[in-house]
Parts: sequence; C-alpha cells; structure tokens
Amino acid sequence: MAKIIDGREISRNTRENIKKRTSEYVEKNGRAPGLAVVIVGEDPASQIYVRNKAKACEEVGFHSEVIRLPAEVTENELLSVIEKLKADGKIDGILVQLPLPRGLDPKVIIDAIPPEKDVDAFHVSNVGKIMLGEKCFHPCTPAGIMKMLEHEGISVDGKECVVVGRSNIVGKPMAMLLLHANGTVTICHSHTVNLKDITSRADILVAAVGKSKFITADMVKDGAVIIDVGMNRDENGKLSGDVDYENVEKKASAITPVPGGVGPMTITMLLENTLLAAENSSK
Ligand code: GUN
Repeated sequence: MAKIIDGREISRNTRENIKKRTSEYVEKNGRAPGLAVVIVGEDPASQIYVRNKAKACEEVGFHSEVIRLPAEVTENELLSVIEKLKADGKIDGILVQLPLPRGLDPKVIIDAIPPEKDVDAFHVSNVGKIMLGEKCFHPCTPAGIMKMLEHEGISVDGKECVVVGRSNIVGKPMAMLLLHANGTVTICHSHTVNLKDITSRADILVAAVGKSKFITADMVKDGAVIIDVGMNRDENGKLSGDVDYENVEKKASAITPVPGGVGPMTITMLLENTLLAAENSSK
C-alpha cells in the first residue's frame, strides 16, 4: 500500500504560511500583494482555472484583478493591457491564461510581461534562469511537485527520475528542477522507444502526458514514487490522472491522487510566486 501524498493538506499548510506573510506584508507596505490575470476568449476550462485563481487570491488576502478580453482582441490591444498592468502599483504578478485564441502569438505576449512580474515563470528570461539554476520564479506545477516531495521527506539526490512529457509548462522545467536537486533525469515523450524499459527504472516517476491511465502497473518499479500531473476525463466522464491509480498504487511507495494531488499545489505555488514578487519589489 502506497503512502498517499495529500496535495490538499500540503496546500492548506502552505497557504496558511502565505496568509501569515501576506498580513506582515500589508502591515509593512500598506497594501496587499496583487495578481492580475488576463483571460482572452471563452475557453471553458480556462474560465474555471481563472475563477479558481482569483478565489485563491482573495482567500489569502491578495488584491486580485481579472481582465476579460474578447477572442477578437488584437495583439496590440493585448500588449497595451499588459503595458497598463506593468505600470500599476497595485499589481505584483501578471499572468496571461493559456491557451490564447488563434492569431495571438503566446511567445510575443508572455515576453511582454516583465520577468519580475512573470509569476508563471514562462518568460524566456525566467526559462533561461531555470536552465542555469539561477534564482527566479519556478513554474507553478513543477514547483508544487518539488514542495510535495520535500514535505514527504523524499530526497531526489542520486535518484533515477523519469519525466514522461516534454511540455514547456511541466515536463521540461520539471526535469530541470529534479536535475538541480541532483536527480539522474530522463525525459520521455511520444517518440520514445521502449518507454516501459525507461519508466521501470524510475525511483521517482512524473507523468505529464495528458492521457487517461497511460502509466500502467507493468511500467512501474516496486517502491517507486509516482507523481501524476494528469487531469483527464476517463471513459465514464470521471476525472482521472495519467496513472492507472488503482493498480499502480499497489506497487508504489508513495503516490499523488487525482483529484487532490498535484492540482491544488499549482495554484498554491502561484500565490507563493505572487507574494515573492511583492516581497522582492518592496526590498
Ligand atoms: N493554462 C494551463 N495551465 C496554465 C498555467 O499554469 N498558466 C497559464 N498562464 N495558463 C495555463
């Protein structure tokens, strides 16, 4: 029986700490840390994510703004919204929800956010710093996973770490953070040959594929730590991860459930990055 890594509980503890530091920040600076979330278009999943981000901000005492723009907005109009937010003294973090509608280049938009307000850590400068191991914001999902491992006392040092998925948001930065923690890291993806041979070596396996129950028990080593980043609907419409939880749980030493694992940590780390941005700007 695996230890279930409870993302909700770790998230609660971390948010309590953020709340306390937020009160101290308000006391010292006479204003709350502020996050602006820009959402373009009507993507239903994005609407939910953005609502949850704003709610989380309010719960810890942040100032929160959601800027809703129509899908037809031009690149210049969106850039001028970012310009205004850059100059707004109430705003410490700026986040543009992805994906953007067709016709808007996310690279151009993200790189218009000043790196010190880029609380997603998607700006090319922050991506470069992550690669170099320099101090900067860490992308929220990989940062949340590192926090969970740390909370559980799971050391990465010298471990075989396998990341399945190579996205810019999760897979690549995850591999870097594990590498900086002295893991031996392999990234697998859709062209990987003999995937099972590689995943079976993992002491720590991170699944960020986007396919329901993709990681099956035969792909997992006995005693492995399993981190499931997936948020999929299974054949019955039920929320499921990238891991076949029911069967993999029997072999793992520790595992994150879906829901209630990595998911809650992502928004928590967004709060942490926003507070850091505010603290850095008031130094
Ligand atoms: N879309 C899905 N995940 C994310 C995220 O972490 N940040 C932003 N900005 N958009 C997303």
